[in-house]
Amino acid sequence: MGSSLQFDAKLLEYVTKHTPVEPELFRRLREETEALGPISEMQISWIQGNLMQLLARLIGATRYLEIGVFTGYSTLAMATALPDDGRITALDIDENWTAMGKRYWREAGVDGKIDLILGDACTALEKMVNKAALPPFDMAFIDADKPNMPRYFDYALRLVRPGGLVIVDNVLWSGAVIDPAAGDENTAAIRAFNEAVMKDQRVYLSMIPVGDGLLLACKK
Ligand SMILES: C[S@@+](CC[C@H](N)C(=O)[O-])C[C@H]1O[C@@H](n2cnc3c(N)ncnc32)[C@H](O)[C@@H]1O
Repeated sequence: MGSSLQFDAKLLEYVTKHTPVEPELFRRLREETEALGPISEMQISWIQGNLMQLLARLIGATRYLEIGVFTGYSTLAMATALPDDGRITALDIDENWTAMGKRYWREAGVDGKIDLILGDACTALEKMVNKAALPPFDMAFIDADKPNMPRYFDYALRLVRPGGLVIVDNVLWSGAVIDPAAGDENTAAIRAFNEAVMKDQRVYLSMIPVGDGLLLACKK
């Protein structure tokens, strides 16, 4: 086995210092979200947002699908990285959390790129796969309820073009995936997803320890 680093707080601080500075608007959205309390942990980090922006630029993404918006931080990161003709379809069930995001999207001048669909994501995705003329997405990000991960992954693969990228968040679930004492529904769902996806012949895969663990899947 090759060597790998243990990330303590100091090393993470070093990584943060050597990542482009989080834009002021993003920082304000992070702070307003943090004021919601412990639920704010659902928000992705700037290090992850910056990586996702880079990946979008690498593959020349113009169409991005997001499953799980919360207060809109990942959406904001992607909307500012996509070109002027970029389009985002963003799915979430919660009107209040996404309302916060909408204010920041507007302030950034990227709200015109974002179609927010409120309601159950599986219902919206089912409609999308049945829509004949829907152009394919270049990139998708799965960051909603964990038991539905396999369904979201399957929908995303049907909606993304060959060579497109599907990113799945939280695949390490704060380390619970390797904790034998952790047997809750979310941990079990993530473990099962991680095992099953290894055998999925439709994708090239890489699991990376950024944030809470990201799975990068390139559609063949
Ligand atoms: C982890 S948060 C998303 C974080 C977001 N990507 C960010 O950067 O801040 C998960 C979101 O999934 C949404 N969600 C949970 N179950 C859902 C469902 N069945 N359909 C649509 N959205 C759902 C929640 O409302 C929540 O906002």
